[in-house]
Amino acid sequence: MDIIQYGHPILRKKCEKVTDFDAIPKLIGDMFDTMYEEEGIGLAANQVGVDLNLMIIDVSHTEETDEIHTLINGEIIDSWGESIFEEGCLSIPEVRLEVKRPEFIKLKYQTINGDEKEDEFSGLLGRAIQHEIDHLNGVFIVDRVSPLVRMQVKKQLKEIEKESNMKKRSINRKESFVL
Ligand code: CO
Repeated sequence: MDIIQYGHPILRKKCEKVTDFDAIPKLIGDMFDTMYEEEGIGLAANQVGVDLNLMIIDVSHTEETDEIHTLINGEIIDSWGESIFEEGCLSIPEVRLEVKRPEFIKLKYQTINGDEKEDEFSGLLGRAIQHEIDHLNGVFIVDRVSPLVRMQVKKQLKEIEKESNMKKRSINRKESFVL
């Protein structure tokens, strides 16, 4: 799957709730392949063009956990504490920003089988979940920094946006040849 980049409207909307869990395993498999290929530790469904509230996370390279996570219809229902950490984003290549977020979150979500759960997360995993939840609500790391910092990456964002629009056009052109 292709990673959708900053500037595409699907990354600016609140994603739809997952209701049909039958089609999910195939999507998740494809998303994990894509994420590992791009060397990401988390990926939201709208980053691969799928308008569903679903995220995958693998932070197993740290000692915190060896689990991989698929979180569906996630919603942060409580948060506390504070931490600052430098984040990158597969949809905004080469931009790294220090983002302030709550250190602890309580997340309501569903598993791949549709079971409802509530868990607390912190550390890198909690941070990755908050980053992906932002994506699923149409929010980027550039929205989480001060106007001054945002100004400093404005040019880079414009470039990515331009490329993203060009890619969109070339995809459309290719499709029109299929006629
Ligand atoms: Co991201």
